[in-house]
Amino acid sequence: MYFLYLLKRIILKLLYLINQEHYKLNLNSFGRSSRIMFPSEITEYKGLSIGSNVTIKSNSWLNCRYLPLTNAPSLVIQDGCYLGRFIHINAFQNVYIEKNVLIADRVHISDATHYYDDLDIPIIKQGAGFIAPVKLSEGCWIGVGAVILPGVTIGRNAIIGANAVVTKSIPDFAIAGGVPAKVIKMRESKLND
Ligand SMILES: CC(C)(COP(=O)(O)OP(=O)(O)OC[C@H]1O[C@@H](n2cnc3c(N)ncnc32)[C@H](O)[C@@H]1OP(=O)(O)O)[C@@H](O)C(=O)NCCC(=O)NCCS
Repeated sequence: MYFLYLLKRIILKLLYLINQEHYKLNLNSFGRSSRIMFPSEITEYKGLSIGSNVTIKSNSWLNCRYLPLTNAPSLVIQDGCYLGRFIHINAFQNVYIEKNVLIADRVHISDATHYYDDLDIPIIKQGAGFIAPVKLSEGCWIGVGAVILPGVTIGRNAIIGANAVVTKSIPDFAIAGGVPAKVIKMRESKLND
């Protein structure tokens, strides 16, 4: 029984190491102690840069691109970030996630949209494209089920409430929520109360 347990542990460790090497070799960059849990989909490997100590949980779709003109990845995730399960990021040109950002499950982030100008053509056949960059600043927290739309910057250490639809930028230290998201209050230090 113990032998089977040990065998399972060894196989899992080996799979993990193979996985790490695969990402180190193929992504634009992949830092120390980072992990992307299986199954997850990465559209273009060279379009993704990941710092160290980053965790991306399972069932995520990182829809990123390599930009040959600037020799740059369209999706950058800096050190210490945590992205939950079922995350969907559309990074056609520029989604930048700074250090130590916490993203809960089922969050959608996009710098792009489907075109829908022609009334006679199904939207699925009209194509999709970049609209404006998205930035999640250092230390912010994006609540479960939130949607971050093109052109939005989330401020440093700001909080986005569960199920918010963020259509405009949110300042540093703000707590925002709702559809469309509005600032609910500003964070204040309670340490000296
Ligand atoms: C945003 C959040 C952090 C606010 O927490 P809080 O500071 O304790 O705020 P309060 O509960 O005092 O609420 C303040 C006001 O905002 C409203 N509010 C709180 N969360 C909201 C949300 N997600 N959407 C809309 N309004 C919200 C409250 O109804 C309240 O309104 P009122 O003053 O009219 O009664 C919290 O509600 C939240 O959404 N957390 C995310 C949880 C999550 O995603 N967890 C995943 C684990 S990583």
